[in-house]
Amino acid sequence: MEKEQAQEKINQLSSELREHNHNYYVLSSPTISDYDFDMQLKELQGLEKQYPDFADVNSPTKRVGGDITKNFETVVHKRPMLSLGNSYSIDDIADFEIRIAKSIDHELEYVCELKYDGVAISIIYENGELAKAVTRGDGTKGEDVTANVKTIRSIPLKLKGGDYPSEFEIRGEIFFPRKNFDKLNKLREEAGEPLYMNPRNTASGTMKSKDSAVVAERGLDCFLYFVYADEKQVNTHYDSLLKAKDWGFKVPYIEKNFVCRTTTIGGIKEFIEYWDKERFNLDFDIDGIVIKVNSYHQQEELGFTAKSPRWAIAYKFKAEQVSTTLEAITYQIGRTGAITPVANLTPVLLAGTTIKRASLHNADQIEKLDIRVGDTVFVEKGGEIIPKIISVDLQKRSTDAVKTKYIECCPECQTPLVRKEEQAHHYCPNDTGCPPQIKGRIEHYISRKAMNIDGLGEETVELLVNEGLIANMADLYDLSYNQLFALEGFKEKKVRNILDGIEISKTVPFARVLFALGIRYVGETVAKKLTKHFKSIDFLMRSTMIDLISVDEIGERIADSVIEYFADEANIELVNRLRGNGLKFELTKEQLEGASERLQGLTFVITGSFENHSRNDLKKIIEDNGGKNTGSVSKKTSYVLVGEAAGSKLAKAQELGVNIIDENELIEMVG
Ligand code: IVH
Repeated sequence: MEKEQAQEKINQLSSELREHNHNYYVLSSPTISDYDFDMQLKELQGLEKQYPDFADVNSPTKRVGGDITKNFETVVHKRPMLSLGNSYSIDDIADFEIRIAKSIDHELEYVCELKYDGVAISIIYENGELAKAVTRGDGTKGEDVTANVKTIRSIPLKLKGGDYPSEFEIRGEIFFPRKNFDKLNKLREEAGEPLYMNPRNTASGTMKSKDSAVVAERGLDCFLYFVYADEKQVNTHYDSLLKAKDWGFKVPYIEKNFVCRTTTIGGIKEFIEYWDKERFNLDFDIDGIVIKVNSYHQQEELGFTAKSPRWAIAYKFKAEQVSTTLEAITYQIGRTGAITPVANLTPVLLAGTTIKRASLHNADQIEKLDIRVGDTVFVEKGGEIIPKIISVDLQKRSTDAVKTKYIECCPECQTPLVRKEEQAHHYCPNDTGCPPQIKGRIEHYISRKAMNIDGLGEETVELLVNEGLIANMADLYDLSYNQLFALEGFKEKKVRNILDGIEISKTVPFARVLFALGIRYVGETVAKKLTKHFKSIDFLMRSTMIDLISVDEIGERIADSVIEYFADEANIELVNRLRGNGLKFELTKEQLEGASERLQGLTFVITGSFENHSRNDLKKIIEDNGGKNTGSVSKKTSYVLVGEAAGSKLAKAQELGVNIIDENELIEMVG
């Protein structure tokens, strides 16, 4: 075949296969037999092999997978992937509506949708082609799973029509249709392999597969439910779904009532009640309903809280309940010494997973439930992963059931427990001698968000503590090559890896070191606030209640905990040892020079591209100086920072009369 002819044939086959694919997987109305489809695909594969120059990264042959990902790259989301506020009753929805109506003068319309119980995905399209797909991750950054996503047949690799924006993001949920999930488990059963627990976790695990061919085989599916574009072509969320449908996306089926529009609470209620019953007839899991304000303009006006949009809310269906028997109550000790009672149950299947344990929270909860060993109990899986015990079936209680007596001593180190009046938990006060506390604190210290020490994991920490090599985090820095090499299974490479990881931790910035210490109530954000305010651990150590509560968002509970921590000589010694080992306990010169409160209380929106700074640099400058970055322009925006080729956000700022500045003006503002 001539080269030219080959290219023509490749184009023709690709476009036909794309169309067949869309008809089958998006519209569910096949226009070709499976056999003919496979034949055409084989022909295309053959031609692409023969003429690799013409092979396209988004060819329909990519659907079968085969690309291997060595390491999923981390990608920072252009717009953070937030979660939704939850509600559990119609009253909560009514409150949501009242809150919204207070800030919006005009008539409101809502879009109700299903809440798919899968794995959130963000996909970027450039010039009508799938460019990148990223998992939610921690909401700020996720993993690049493009090769895997390309194998999901209902996700278009090239778009239809031509009126899509040159660059946009679409979000949705990848899920495991139950039929395909059951098929997979049947095959595993036949092969004598352990079965997968539930479709959601298996979908999530599948997306992390390094071999895209595995993903291709599994038969995952995806509904796309949110379009983000700088150039907006429509004014409402609902219309964006219609547009996305035209471009070839599988958007929630309007004709099957997966989406509806309504202006009343009654309409929302009707939709919820319909799906609360009907959900069991779907081939995939949903865990609730999402209610969104339809108008983009109103969405912008409402904006976001730190965690979720104010213009949307999730209604969670009441969880499924089952009954089982309480076999025993055991007690877990956390890194702060807090005791959590755990119910050990006769294993029972609940919402697709086998439940063996449930949290009993604290002594008051046990008292309130009056739960006794041998009782028949009702278990429910709520929003959390750990199931909850809802109540005891008193009618089934045996007459000799003994009232539960809460433990008085730590089950690990036998120290008498303490409980302060206002605290919910009992604590084991033996913080330096109680093994699970020692291990828990070191595990927290090395964890990813804290010191992120490569090479060390829970098992190694356990071993090192049990072998008596470490009893606190400072001991990590005294570990020697020979000590580690002498341990069973520790070869040179492993030992080097651990020691290198420990060495690198000395460069971790102050805020993360403070978080890593594990002071009760000092999470990542609080640690950042404290370091920014006090600048050095010396000032923090000497701070009083008044000093602490004068810091933005620091209340008495946190202040008390910080004071209590530094009142303990052992902690001061620990900090001094860590400092002696070279860990960072103050802000660096650059951090100090770059920081001020000059932008306190101001919100910024950045748009366009800049000559002298990257967008991330500008964001950091704003944050370091006390300002806040937000994604969309509203009346409340203080400044829109505009670069080259700024689009709709600039227009919006002009329309609303928001201050517009360039990068030089920002630099002037922060001095
Ligand atoms: S919209 C900014 N719509 O629920 C709003 N989310 O708890 C973004 N989800 O992370 C979310 N079905 O993974 C939206 N119809 C739907 C959804 C949905 C499921 C998931 C999504 C999100 C989580 C929020």
